[in-house]
Amino acid sequence: MRHLIDILDLTIEEIDQLIETAEDIMANPAKYAHVCDGKKLATLFFEPSTRTRLSFEAAMMELGGNVLGFSEASSSSASKGESVCDTVQVVGCYADIIAMRHPKEGAPVAAASVCPVPIINAGDGGHNHPTQTLTDLLTIRKEKGRLNQLVIGLCGDLQFGRTVHSLINAMSRYKSIRFVLISPNELKVPEYIKENMHRDKVSYMEVERLEDVIGTLDILYMTRVQRERFFNEADYVRLKDSYILDTEKMKMARKDLCVMHPLPRVNEISRAVDSDPRAAYFRQAMYGKYIREALIMKLLGVEA
Ligand code: NCD
Repeated sequence: MRHLIDILDLTIEEIDQLIETAEDIMANPAKYAHVCDGKKLATLFFEPSTRTRLSFEAAMMELGGNVLGFSEASSSSASKGESVCDTVQVVGCYADIIAMRHPKEGAPVAAASVCPVPIINAGDGGHNHPTQTLTDLLTIRKEKGRLNQLVIGLCGDLQFGRTVHSLINAMSRYKSIRFVLISPNELKVPEYIKENMHRDKVSYMEVERLEDVIGTLDILYMTRVQRERFFNEADYVRLKDSYILDTEKMKMARKDLCVMHPLPRVNEISRAVDSDPRAAYFRQAMYGKYIREALIMKLLGVEA
């Protein structure tokens, strides 16, 4: 039985296969419409979500399966004090596979140690978000045609942004990747992620001003300042509008830039950018459903 806790649980070859399956699902949805007939996915969301939860649910429905679950901790027995390990042991009796989001870093590892069915980490605190990364890898392949030889700018809250952490770990395995880490001093990438980059001999630079580097990027990955992870509101208010990507800044960027964002967006991309063909973030959200279909099939061991 396989779980997906960290993006590095998957080899590059397995990721390639998932991308291939997702592309085939997009091209031939009817071929996959019944591969999960009779199977159930439980979505256990102890933290809010729109895209991740609903795309998992839509993915399972499109494969012919059913879904059950909860969308907030307050409507589960966590509110009575039940541990996450007890919850997944019980839900494992009702469902064939579980997607779980939790505010505590490491909760999915603890859950997986007792879970009788495959468990997918759908985001754990400020730590990891492997299925967003699968979505991002499919998006990069679709938009840029390759996963190597890229200059990737990551901008915003690089300290608490779990999507950034998983994406750096994933992209560090491809050839000729350079990261440009754009953040206020207070929201830099955590040391342990930098250590991974050093270990993998991946080139990166840290800067504060987006304007100084935007013209050098193949990909610009914008992120929201993660209000829920701040210790005090004043710091959030001071830092929340550190970066706003607008049409003026887009003029300084390359014609083939790909702008990504895991969403939700707050202020960090102005709405006027949405109509720029380089804005890929809504396409990115769409790709999320297909790659999750491919992942569910893989972990359940079903084929078309
Ligand atoms: C992200 C998350 O939950 O980490 N959203 C998502 O899953 N698409 C990013 C965020 O909340 O800022």
